[in-house]
Amino acid sequence: MNQYIEEHNGMFALHTDHTSYLFRVDAYGHLEHIHYGRRVSLSDEEALSLKQTLPYGTAVEYEDNVQRSFRDIEPFEYGNSGIGDYRTPSCLVSYAGGTSTDFAFAGFDTDDKEQVMQNGFPCAYDASGSLTIHLVDKTGRMALDLIYTVYGKSDVITRRAVLINLSEEELTVNRLMSYSLDMMEDNLVMMSFHGNWVKEMQRKDVPVNAGTISISSRTGFSSNMTNPGFILRRNDTTEMHGEAWGFNLVYSGSHKSIVSRDEHGCVRVMGGFNDENFSWTLGNGEQLETPEAFMTYSDAGMNSLSQHFHHFIRHHIVRGAWQYKERPVLVNDWEAFLFTFDEEKLVSLAQQGKELGAELFVLDDGWFGERNDDHAGLGDYNVNTKKLPEGIRGLSDKIHAMDMLFGLWFEPEAVNPDSDLYRAHPDWIIQEDGRRNLTGRYEYLLDLSRREVQDYIIENVGRVVDEGHVDYVKWDMNRHMTAMSGTFVYKYMLGLYRVLGEIFYKRPHILLESCASGGNRFDAGMMCYSPQIWTSDDTDAMERLGIQKGASYLYPLSTMGAHVSAVPNAQTMRSISLPVRFAVSAFGVLGYELDLTELNDIEKKEIKEQIAWYKQHRHLLQYGTFYRTDCDDAHESFTVSDGKEAVTGVYRRMMMAAAPMERMHVAGLEQGEYEIGMRNAIVPLDIPCPSELGSCLETAEDGSSGIRLLWKPLCASSAALSYGMPLPLVFNSSGLSPYMRYPLDFGAELYTAVKKK
Ligand code: GLA
Repeated sequence: MNQYIEEHNGMFALHTDHTSYLFRVDAYGHLEHIHYGRRVSLSDEEALSLKQTLPYGTAVEYEDNVQRSFRDIEPFEYGNSGIGDYRTPSCLVSYAGGTSTDFAFAGFDTDDKEQVMQNGFPCAYDASGSLTIHLVDKTGRMALDLIYTVYGKSDVITRRAVLINLSEEELTVNRLMSYSLDMMEDNLVMMSFHGNWVKEMQRKDVPVNAGTISISSRTGFSSNMTNPGFILRRNDTTEMHGEAWGFNLVYSGSHKSIVSRDEHGCVRVMGGFNDENFSWTLGNGEQLETPEAFMTYSDAGMNSLSQHFHHFIRHHIVRGAWQYKERPVLVNDWEAFLFTFDEEKLVSLAQQGKELGAELFVLDDGWFGERNDDHAGLGDYNVNTKKLPEGIRGLSDKIHAMDMLFGLWFEPEAVNPDSDLYRAHPDWIIQEDGRRNLTGRYEYLLDLSRREVQDYIIENVGRVVDEGHVDYVKWDMNRHMTAMSGTFVYKYMLGLYRVLGEIFYKRPHILLESCASGGNRFDAGMMCYSPQIWTSDDTDAMERLGIQKGASYLYPLSTMGAHVSAVPNAQTMRSISLPVRFAVSAFGVLGYELDLTELNDIEKKEIKEQIAWYKQHRHLLQYGTFYRTDCDDAHESFTVSDGKEAVTGVYRRMMMAAAPMERMHVAGLEQGEYEIGMRNAIVPLDIPCPSELGSCLETAEDGSSGIRLLWKPLCASSAALSYGMPLPLVFNSSGLSPYMRYPLDFGAELYTAVKKK
């Protein structure tokens, strides 16, 4: 026992700095859920428990003639089936003679650290303590361990379940949720995050009324369609006020979460791997372990809830040499050249990047095999010497000679039918007997449940990165799975995590950026290997703002790759001004993905200043405490702060004539006086400069020009800043001022607040 975990006469309390989680063993050995919310004490259990004093008409008695024994009414820690609890069961099994489960308390263990996974799935680390509850089915046929781990400072509790077959006969598991809890809470709204390719993390809010809400992915992966993380909030909770509960999984495969409310007002919440077509047979003594789930609670609004998740992911999920390091500003050649590059083009792009301040050059797709478009070559690792005559090492040496890091793209889980690998091993792909194999982006997925396939990837990726002196890997995966069962997905994930661990835990100096056509696998499972993930293939700044905002509810900015790309944008054909593209990418891990050599001098000057400004504030932008502001549809605002210093991005979606006054709210500052600044961006001009603005006109030798945005420095107290400081008006047609905010259809400025000495 320690300060985080208490037990007294079958009552249990898990405490974090600001939350408590209470349950107890009831008269029948079942685990009764009592409270998950603000911090209380173990002695509150009686007061906070449901008072089951009356019978309910058709309910089934668990103990003959005992009215208080109805299983359908009691809130539980894990739902049984077949014993009169008609809510969604947390576990589905079948065995000779039946399908019911009746798990009863058989003991517990505590530890002051986490319990590592037995099966090889990744999990959180550096815990404040853990509690394992041992349950045994009343027939003695099977046992269930519920493992709870506390992360005190993050205000997070993790849960997972392990089912063990104690009988001589086979037992088949068809569902095993990582967690389940019955919350007696009302006025709840479920916030979950949905989308598709180039449209990830779109927040959807649904009231939790009668019936069941089920969100899931069945693509094989955590998916861009539905993220595994979701939030339950009160219907009046805002960014700064009110209660919310958050749930997520440390898992990258198909998942399922169920929220169902019954007429007694009980909300059963559960989540885990997706159980569709899942069937896992356990022999005597064998066990099945779920992925780890993590949850948090706050009574101080959505920002506070997100901050708990951010803290937990930074300190207990992300690991390795890059965990707390400032992430390098990168230049990636993909949107600049696609497949049509040679070493000379790459080197001149890197050189230009270096001159502007970039620190890492990434060679994306197209460097291997016959990969001259996306129809061929995946699966092969031999470098294309027509493009790179001196191989990866030759290029890498040139990049290193510029004092830049060198990064390389791989898509190791996939294979093109037109590849040497597929010709040699057509049986290595995921397939079902007698069915036609389906391609996605002209590729099949390899069967990572097979050891020889895992070893092929471990060996080849390992060899290329070692020989090529690679400092950063972009690990891509560009299609959904087909021809798979739920059981297969679980096995695939075991294989994937082994591969990632073997390659990257053994090479901790490598910065891994996971990618799956953007955010098709943006989850805490991948973050156990990959400190950052390419958030979306959509680099249109306005679209991207919404995607990054959605992701920010669950994941910290240090996990979000965010690049400035060319205009007109490749996804939307929209042209957004260069400083505004930067103002969005600055709230994330900054990169540039365009042909920098083609820019005019004013654009280069602006980018050079952007990168210098980003480096100056990078620690805040990657690791500061993050806040969203409650805004209307036309506006958005984000702040990162460390208490003494803050950066605030202010965004407006459409230029309006006679736009109303707007306030900037800066949260998270210590009490005191602050100097307020603004990044004096240069808006490159493609229109003539009005003569009134001549004093802020910047021109370059090549004839390009832009308008330098100006700001009159001023001071404000933290109180005034959190209340909201009115910003300068946006241009309107009756006049011009060098201090106005610039008229753009998608406009933005970046402000700083620095505490006065
Ligand atoms: C995916 C990725 C892109 C890029 C291409 C290369 O679409 O998301 O960033 O790497 O593949 O083919």
